[in-house]
Amino acid sequence: MCGIFGCVLKDGQAAPRVLAALKRLEYRGYDSCGEATVHEGRIFVRKDVGEVDAVHARLKLDELPGKIGIGHTRWATHGAPTQDNAHPHTDCTGRIAVAHNGIIENFLELREELKARGHVFKSRTDTEVVPHLIEEFMTKGLDLVKATMEAVKRLKGSFALVIVHADFDGLVCVKMESPLVLGVGRDGMYVASDVPAFLPYTNVIVPLEDGDMAVLRPDGYEVYCFATGKPVRRKPRTVDWTADMAQKEGYPHFMLKEIHEQPRSLRNTLRLDRRYLTMMADLLNTAHEAFMVACGTSYHACVAASYAMARLAKKAVHPVIASEFVENYGDFVGARTTILAVSQSGETADTLAAVEHAKERGATILGITNVLGSKLTRVARVYVCQQSGPEIGVAATKTYTAQLSVLSQLAVLMAERRGKLGHVEAEDLWEHLMAVPDVVEAVMEATEKHIISLAKRYAGTERFAFVGAGVNFATALEGRLKLLEIAYAPSIATPRLDDNIVECLGQTSVAIFVCPTSGDGRESVLSDAMKAADSGMEVVVLAHENDEEAAEVADELVALPFKPDMPEVLTPLPFIIPLQLFAYYVSVERGLNPDKPRNLAKSVTVK
Ligand code: BG6
Repeated sequence: MCGIFGCVLKDGQAAPRVLAALKRLEYRGYDSCGEATVHEGRIFVRKDVGEVDAVHARLKLDELPGKIGIGHTRWATHGAPTQDNAHPHTDCTGRIAVAHNGIIENFLELREELKARGHVFKSRTDTEVVPHLIEEFMTKGLDLVKATMEAVKRLKGSFALVIVHADFDGLVCVKMESPLVLGVGRDGMYVASDVPAFLPYTNVIVPLEDGDMAVLRPDGYEVYCFATGKPVRRKPRTVDWTADMAQKEGYPHFMLKEIHEQPRSLRNTLRLDRRYLTMMADLLNTAHEAFMVACGTSYHACVAASYAMARLAKKAVHPVIASEFVENYGDFVGARTTILAVSQSGETADTLAAVEHAKERGATILGITNVLGSKLTRVARVYVCQQSGPEIGVAATKTYTAQLSVLSQLAVLMAERRGKLGHVEAEDLWEHLMAVPDVVEAVMEATEKHIISLAKRYAGTERFAFVGAGVNFATALEGRLKLLEIAYAPSIATPRLDDNIVECLGQTSVAIFVCPTSGDGRESVLSDAMKAADSGMEVVVLAHENDEEAAEVADELVALPFKPDMPEVLTPLPFIIPLQLFAYYVSVERGLNPDKPRNLAKSVTVK
């Protein structure tokens, strides 16, 4: 996730507005930033690594001349945070500049093609293919608008782009799967990833749709379908948001916004370059001993992955809480060991300590992280960026499901590379994985209202039990952690609800069961749910919408609309959604602020 902005003013200087917008967009990314302006037939670019204030102090971003400007705050996805990789990116002539948010899946192939035609690349980003592609079409005689249309038809993936040209009195922008909204001001036209970027100047907005290309001039805009070149109508509307509400896209808390962002962040995880995941799969498969080390939520993703790797690839990859690793497993580590460290921030001290110990003893280090340039990416032999964008809510939500998705892909690849999956079974798993973002979206839609009513009903409950067996033991652990972190509710997570637990928790408790349609855990979960109901506990069951057996034992059935034949190893993805929502709404019902848990702080990247 990155923040992009552009403005075309009737009068005055664009650069101070671009700078102010970058500050307001910094929550979307902050490892580097930059801007480009157009003045008297020239493009001016300033960009560097660091937060906006630091870069501005060095480069004086508000001094660039001209009435047209674009800007970018970066959260690196391809290419580490460096000055060359910062946006905007230019073509060979320096007359076209582009800022981009999203992932261009086929950039390697385009880059090779463009290099063969003589284009010279200055960065390692996916974005840089765009100015060169536009340049290529312009040298064939097309104008900026037509060349952009042709260029974006060649792109696969997600992209919101803002584009300026030295000789063009305006700017061009394009939207495909990444957010982009126009602002219609009295003093000019604006475009940004999010409304807060231009809210001080206008509250008249035009949300663009996928496939739209807009041309902004000082006194108006036109929107086209870039595939056909035909004009389309997008009506302006007025929003009544404060800057704070706009940053949260109208949601009351970042946590709720990020829960709702999951279909989008999951789609990003499915665009990963499989070559790196395949390298990881091979290094895990051939290891003598293989471990996953992580803390907190990331550890829960490893628990789920360990089940999936064992079940699909028949390979034991032990999940270990990072703080436990060195003392208990440190002696077994050597040159034949592979350690997969999973850390959203890539900076968690215990995870890094485990990794460093293992590296010193000659182990192979792999990493999955959300922060390119973090320490984990510097020590790992192979790493993969989970592509979630910054997570502002302290309690991890979208980064958890992103980790689950990346790790599930890894488990399937491990199984394929070890020859443990038939062709049909592998195809089926990939098909279900690719459908996960839509399933998660449907689950959110189908369950949120019910969860709100459950949160009201149970907000005063003293104790909770989360029960999930097999791979969904991870779901129980994570559901419990969320409730503990933001609603401070004493709770346990267990694969089996034995009699002692039932007796200790007593009738004043709610037991929440995760019940997939198949798998070894199903019978035990159902029989434990019956036991809990008999003892007078309130029983909530999360199950498939047509699960009659589950409905029979439940006081409350949370009905999930996933395909009943979804392989059990993938079910932690839909099942965690109602539990994230439950923790959020219980926290709100208790009058707490879910974005500011008392006892938690996120690890931050050391810059
Ligand atoms: C802990 C946090 O410090 O770190 C948890 O309290 C978090 O919420 C855990 O899940 C792991 O963080 P990371 O960045 O390594 O995934």
